Amino acid sequence: MNVNDLKKSFVSIFNEEPERLFFAPGRINLIGEHTDYNGGKVFPLAITYGTYAYVKKRNDKQIRLVSKNFPQTGIVTASLDHLEKNAEVGWVNYPLGVIHYLKESGYMIDQGFDVLFEGNIPNGAGLSSSASIEMAAGVMARGIADLSISQVELIKLCQRVENEYIGVNSGIMDQFAIGMGKQGQALWLDCDTLEFEYAPVELEHEKILIMNTNKRRELASSKYNERRSECERALDVIKEHVDVSSLGELSVEQLSEVEGWLGDPLLFKRVKHVVTENERTKQAYMSLKAGDLEHVGQLMNASHQSLKEDYEVTGEELDALAEFTQTLPGVIGARMTGAGFGGCAIAIVKTGEVENVIKQTRRNYQAQIGYGADFYVASVGDGAKEIVVEGAGLG
Ligand code: GLA
Repeated sequence: MNVNDLKKSFVSIFNEEPERLFFAPGRINLIGEHTDYNGGKVFPLAITYGTYAYVKKRNDKQIRLVSKNFPQTGIVTASLDHLEKNAEVGWVNYPLGVIHYLKESGYMIDQGFDVLFEGNIPNGAGLSSSASIEMAAGVMARGIADLSISQVELIKLCQRVENEYIGVNSGIMDQFAIGMGKQGQALWLDCDTLEFEYAPVELEHEKILIMNTNKRRELASSKYNERRSECERALDVIKEHVDVSSLGELSVEQLSEVEGWLGDPLLFKRVKHVVTENERTKQAYMSLKAGDLEHVGQLMNASHQSLKEDYEVTGEELDALAEFTQTLPGVIGARMTGAGFGGCAIAIVKTGEVENVIKQTRRNYQAQIGYGADFYVASVGDGAKEIVVEGAGLG
């Protein structure tokens, strides 16, 4: 990503110089999958790939939006007075939703703007390009309209956009990781209380490898909402027997009792995943802090297994990546990351073996699935922020 090129594009599209540049990263989750909306723990980190937004304020109430990732949609125009959902152009609804909810929450945004977005997160890869553009729009709006909204409030607002404006019933993990990420640090987050701690992931002799299935994720949001409602149904039954407010409060020891209460093998499998995953996440956090990476790797492998067998969100493609890499020399652990149903898997790999792991996994995936996977080495970056560009706006 070259921000100078982005600036040049802005000038040629809007015929004026941009004033400010904002950025929001994507995220991966080390472990703790489908636990966030169940009041459990997650362990994500922000990556250095993300969404950039160059912006210039206008003197009227117009908003003009362009994305270099969707050149076919051209300039999309909206007004600060009419922020309803755009039925034709999907991507603009992320920034429009953010502006809409900021205004609705009483924040004063009375000047329009021209904005050019460009993201280098592979689209639809499950690295949270949607939360990334939301948070980029959020920090941008806060910056240009000088709003006094905290990062955590912005995070919550962006989650509401995803849930209510876009219609995906996702948890808080993505926006939180993208909002609060820190270079070299993973975030250990309690999704019930939003208390969190940073844990260093500056690995000395290993790399985090991101492996993209390149599988289209069209059905992902409906399947995601389905899993979420299965958990809600299970919780309703469990609540008749024990005083809990989320599945995240259950312990592994309670599972056999829960099985009897539920009397439904499918719902039990869902709950079993959530409860064991929550436990694995706690253990992974402690093991990483203690420098026991081997154990973190074992927990990652077990997490994948549970997401495959019990939560049933992996699919052939993610299994082909995670399960195959788990067998290779130098691989400490591997699992799918994010919602699943396609998207990406991650592996922690000894630095000297990274090339070989990519080569072998690439070959195996192509042979098994029939098309290629993509590979990236992750760097752990900062959360959403303004980027101060030398001389920006001056020519
Ligand atoms: C998606 C959602 C998150 C989380 C993960 C699964 O990324 O946006 O809130 O539920 O799936 O862990």
